[in-house]
Amino acid sequence: MSKAPLGFFDSGVGGTSVWSEVNSLLPNEHSVYLADSKNAPYGPKGKDRIIELSIKNTELLLKKGCKLIAVPCNTATTNAIDVLRSTYDIPFVGIEPAIKPAALQTKTNSIGVLATKGTLSSALFHKTSSLHTSGIQVIEQVGEGLVPLVEAGKINHKETLNLLEKYTKPMLDANIDYLVLGCSHYPYLITPLKKVLPNHITIIDSGEAVARQVQAVLSQYDLLNKDIKPATHYFYTNTTVDTLKQLLPKQKYIEYLDF
Ligand code: DGL
Repeated sequence: MSKAPLGFFDSGVGGTSVWSEVNSLLPNEHSVYLADSKNAPYGPKGKDRIIELSIKNTELLLKKGCKLIAVPCNTATTNAIDVLRSTYDIPFVGIEPAIKPAALQTKTNSIGVLATKGTLSSALFHKTSSLHTSGIQVIEQVGEGLVPLVEAGKINHKETLNLLEKYTKPMLDANIDYLVLGCSHYPYLITPLKKVLPNHITIIDSGEAVARQVQAVLSQYDLLNKDIKPATHYFYTNTTVDTLKQLLPKQKYIEYLDF
């Protein structure tokens, strides 16, 4: 079982930002990644629909023989991971906005969180946020429209820059010094974000933390692949392969699959 691949799914290409962190920490691990771009964005969908889509993706990853499933999608994690964990007998690793490190390090006592509607309105997000941010001002902002722009590969476009400027303005007015990226698509927007944010603002995401958690869970279940042969990675999308190829230029297996 330790030679089986890791499974990943996201509403599209965004979770590959997290996949890259996992791959650099655990280069021996094979992987299968599902980009459910046909159903992107998940953010505005209701909880039941997000659960339904998460189950569909999980079933396919199980058919592919995955030994652990990472859910590098804040929206799917905050809405569906409890159901997945209670339904399937396989370890799941989710992702949540990195509010805790931002709250611990802020000097202005003011932090910004940019995430989807589905994440910001979830019970899990509220629980985590209220646990770690007592006495700290949290400026929440739904990044409406950003996921479709990343899906279309429009990273450095004027349209993207304008939206980022609009969404970060209330945060700047509130004197934030940390910006938490609570959606796995957003790390691909760090370059344009740096253009609209002053230098003293630290941008943080959860990719590295997820990678460390995948490592810890694999080790706990004795599932780490000790093989030193190069690992194989398959990326499947149910729309066009273009954006995945743009974001992962070194990957050999990026294919269309109807799921
Ligand atoms: N990338 C996902 C997340 O981390 C989902 C974004 C969406 O589909 O709305 O939340």
